[in-house]
Amino acid sequence: MSPTPSTPEFVQLHQTDAHALRAELAAGLRAPAAHIAPKYFYDALGSRLFDAITELSEYYPTRTEAAIFSAQGAALAQRVPPGAVLIDLGAGSCAKAAGLFPVLQPAGYVAVDISVDYLRGALGPLQQRHPQRPMLGLGLDFSSALALPAQAAGWLAAHGLATAPRCVFYPGSSIGNFTPAEALALLRQVRAVCAQGGPGGGLLIGVDRVKDLAVLEPAYDDPLGVTAAFNRNLLLHVNRLLGTDFAPARWRHVAFFNTAESRIEMHLQAEGAQAVRWPGGERRFADGERLHTENSYKWTPEAFEALLHEAGFGPATHWTDERGWFSVFWAPAV
Ligand code: AVI
Repeated sequence: MSPTPSTPEFVQLHQTDAHALRAELAAGLRAPAAHIAPKYFYDALGSRLFDAITELSEYYPTRTEAAIFSAQGAALAQRVPPGAVLIDLGAGSCAKAAGLFPVLQPAGYVAVDISVDYLRGALGPLQQRHPQRPMLGLGLDFSSALALPAQAAGWLAAHGLATAPRCVFYPGSSIGNFTPAEALALLRQVRAVCAQGGPGGGLLIGVDRVKDLAVLEPAYDDPLGVTAAFNRNLLLHVNRLLGTDFAPARWRHVAFFNTAESRIEMHLQAEGAQAVRWPGGERRFADGERLHTENSYKWTPEAFEALLHEAGFGPATHWTDERGWFSVFWAPAV
């Protein structure tokens, strides 16, 4: 008999290395084509601004994906084995996964995010609503490598879930923030995680699709300026982390679809020549010079299916919305 859970358990593996983080930021600023990784968008204000983006009429991915999940519940239930362990990558508020509990009927839930502090507030109330479903919050930076740690394996065994199928859940088209090569590497690791569970496991993933520029570009350059604020807020975050003296008002938000690379690019463009200084360093920017902050790759269903195949998954099923803007894939780990 597995113990009756009443509170979620938490394991924090990722430790911020402030020195490495500052070195990474400084290297990006010193590079000939200056860049800052998109993970620095998400301080407390940035996370709120992202939530606001998802409310914008121009930002279609979140609501389109939600509509697919709600329309395809029966089809999802046919593919994802009941009694699986649901492993939620980038779980945040855990709301998307929780919305699928009635459909997927998972036997256990593992919420993965970079910091368990994000997960504590969400997992406690969720556990109260589902007292018989064991829940684990895992603080892990899966963007650099994904593997379930020994603590998670021990937790699964303690709850009688060591041989349960594993369903990895990666919604929100976050896979688009990885280059195709990085996405392939991550998908291979996801498949390995699934394959370590019982038969029937796989990946349930949301993917944004290539579409008309008239739809894509306003989603990343909205007339209210919420995405611009999200982009510029990264400078304030970097000011705190590295001690830079970025003046956000002197940087213009730029977003466009790079057709050759099949990606939205976001940049910040210097308005006037300026020097940015930090303890031990300086970078001069010419008027109009850009700082690259994000790529958001858009996939065709065929190209993403080929990527899943290359990562070792079996034949994928996919569902879309009536406009064909977004796809949800189920890829068995066979
Ligand atoms: C989190 N990620 C999937 C979002 C995207 O669409 O690439 C981040 C974002 N950047 C600007 N708007 C939203």
